[in-house]
Amino acid sequence: MADEERFSLPPRFRKLPIHEKRRYLQELLELTDDELAATGCTDGNLELADVMVESAVGFMPVPLGITSGIRVDGKTLFIPMATEEPSVIAAAGYAGRLISMADGLRTSSDPPVMTAQIYLEGSEPGAVESVERYRAQLEAAVAPVLTSMSSRGGGLVDVGVETLSEPSLLRIHLYIDVRDAMGANILNSAAEASVGALERITGGKKVMAILSNSARRRRARAEFEIDVDRLARAGLSGSEMARRIELASRIAESDPNRAVTHNKGIMNGISALALATGNDTRGTEAAAHAFAARDGRYTSLSRYRSDGETLRGSVELPIALGSVGGAVGIHPVSSFSLKLLGDPNSTRLARTAAALGLAQNFAALLALVSEGIQSGHMRLHSERLAYRAGAREKEIRKLAKKVFESGSFNISTARRLLEELRKNYG
Ligand code: MEV
Repeated sequence: MADEERFSLPPRFRKLPIHEKRRYLQELLELTDDELAATGCTDGNLELADVMVESAVGFMPVPLGITSGIRVDGKTLFIPMATEEPSVIAAAGYAGRLISMADGLRTSSDPPVMTAQIYLEGSEPGAVESVERYRAQLEAAVAPVLTSMSSRGGGLVDVGVETLSEPSLLRIHLYIDVRDAMGANILNSAAEASVGALERITGGKKVMAILSNSARRRRARAEFEIDVDRLARAGLSGSEMARRIELASRIAESDPNRAVTHNKGIMNGISALALATGNDTRGTEAAAHAFAARDGRYTSLSRYRSDGETLRGSVELPIALGSVGGAVGIHPVSSFSLKLLGDPNSTRLARTAAALGLAQNFAALLALVSEGIQSGHMRLHSERLAYRAGAREKEIRKLAKKVFESGSFNISTARRLLEELRKNYG
């Protein structure tokens, strides 16, 4: 079959019921029933997929794990993490427990205030003052979409107006307390609802009205202190480890190329929690990286300093995670994850995320400045190779050990060792 035939889909494919789409794909791609089932589907999941996104054909299951033993603000938590990356969950747990043997992590956060942006062109002179003078009209225009948010203690908290010169536009910010939501829907609705009033007040015309994912007013922070003596490892004293961790922090603070990887490590934790709770991982990442570049130069989101006796670590970044609404409200894994966390509100969730991100980052630095990260990674990589080679159940661990000991991390070695293993154990 020619490629273009093989991959053409009927024009109304996206309108077919999900079961028909799947049957069609099964035939088209010549999938066995098992291969089709591996797209993560039970009947319930299929229905869910169909209401969550358009053109759904299945689910992409990502492993869900739990990191345990991290003490945050005096409470030991079980934190759900959804990630495809090996080592991440174990590393967060390791560092989290190390920090928790001391005082654990302390956290804080801002109220859940998000920003909606409205850009207008061609507004009359004095438009900034007009928006301020007729603010009541603006508030009345957005009030209907904010009724339920206001009844929960949220709603419009502030308005900002600014003229921009390049391109020449008027920019209005609506600052809205979104309570336990991530807020995208409410912000976009409020932004669009405000357009008519703003056009009347300013004489301008809307260019666009949309939330800002920067979440600059919705920051969360986490910090910890630990006696340097607890850090000794790989033949290095605790104070030498603390010195190296501070140095690693200073490198990430000053070198943007290193900061990207350093921050990626922080987001390994935060994004995994965002995904496990059904939150928008792209928005979470965008906010974090934009904040890291807030002064015009990309830098690290965390910081470590040692006085020779104590090492202090801290992190600060915008975290817009909802504990209600959107996919959070309907995805069963999200409900499970929130239950596991004790049904936190959005600020508690953001604080937990900041703590997890810092623990994740600390784990990476502990490894990087001592034995490196590859030995841990290669152990898990060996398990993946064992799985790919055909090992199942108890064989996986046994074969992974042999692959790791062989030092030859490729599929043919794994297959050969699996044959040997099966011969030896019958
Ligand atoms: C890997 O996913 C994350 C690290 O590269 C983070 C870091 O280098 O700090 C280990």
